[in-house]
Amino acid sequence: MLTLSDVRLRRGPQVLVDAANCSIFRGEKVGIVGRNGCGKSTLLALIRGDLAPDAGEYRASPGLATAAVAQELPETGATLVDYIRGGDLELATLEGQIDEAQHEVTASDAPRSPAPLPSDGTRLATLHAEYDRLGGYAARSRAAQLAAGLGFAPDDLEQPVRQFSGGLQMRANLARALMRRSDVLLLDEPTNHLDLDAVLWLESWLKSYAGTLLLVSHDRALLRGACDRFLLVAERSDIESRLADPDTYAGRDAPDQRSLSARHGELSREISSLEERWLEIASALEAAG
Ligand SMILES: Nc1ncnc2c1ncn2[C@@H]1O[C@H](COP(=O)(O)OP(=O)(O)OP(=O)(O)O)[C@@H](O)[C@H]1O
Ligand SMILES: [Mg+2]
Repeated sequence: MLTLSDVRLRRGPQVLVDAANCSIFRGEKVGIVGRNGCGKSTLLALIRGDLAPDAGEYRASPGLATAAVAQELPETGATLVDYIRGGDLELATLEGQIDEAQHEVTASDAPRSPAPLPSDGTRLATLHAEYDRLGGYAARSRAAQLAAGLGFAPDDLEQPVRQFSGGLQMRANLARALMRRSDVLLLDEPTNHLDLDAVLWLESWLKSYAGTLLLVSHDRALLRGACDRFLLVAERSDIESRLADPDTYAGRDAPDQRSLSARHGELSREISSLEERWLEIASALEAAG
């Protein structure tokens, strides 16, 4: 489905990947690992179609729908739930067509307009049937579930997406990418703006994702949980494909993000309980005069 044949990838004068050969098959969950700066994001840019190989050939089966997380903050007045829902491109297109057909039917009903075309009503009915078939009526609740999983509160859904902090807007971008009906999902460090609960939710979402996943992450527990195969991008060399545990080679020098997040949570709880204890002591002292 995705095939690299003798691919060379270069950024400026630097050769990142050379003579890489690998195939990724439909439905595989692939973790991409390697040291900082080795070319993991560059490899995803190739698969996204934003970059051509410097040598060799990259082929993808025709017609694949690829989803990736937008890196720019949303430029829209849409509410959070509509922004996420808009990730489903088929539905968004269909909604546009329904609006257009509805407009034509309404216009042809108006007095002094030319006689109504029977085909307009038929077209509208066909579009509504297609909308139903694609699960259009359930799209809002699907978007709301993605938002909840990624840590938004129910009250957030109707807020304009642009009013959230940068980190939360990136979460909205992630939710929008998950909303897309995709054959291939590309995620590059998706946990950067997530807390531990959201990371755990994402892991279970990815396990049930039916398409092909390419995941770059420093969270080794996420890689282990969501992926069944790993590609190692080693500096200026071929891409190695391994089935091993990412712990054995993925940035051994880097601390594990999952255990850091867990430790951070524990320390925050310890600090809060020490603060509470301190307040109790202070008020007891005050009462004692
Ligand atoms: N647009 C660009 N122009 C020139 N050099 C670039 C560009 N993008 C990346 N590079 C360089 O190419 C190398 C690989 O970058 P890339 O972002 O693919 O690595 P990475 O493995 O994703 O790194 P990280 O783990 O830090 O995310 C780096 O040395 C980087 O500085
Ligand atoms: Mg990167």
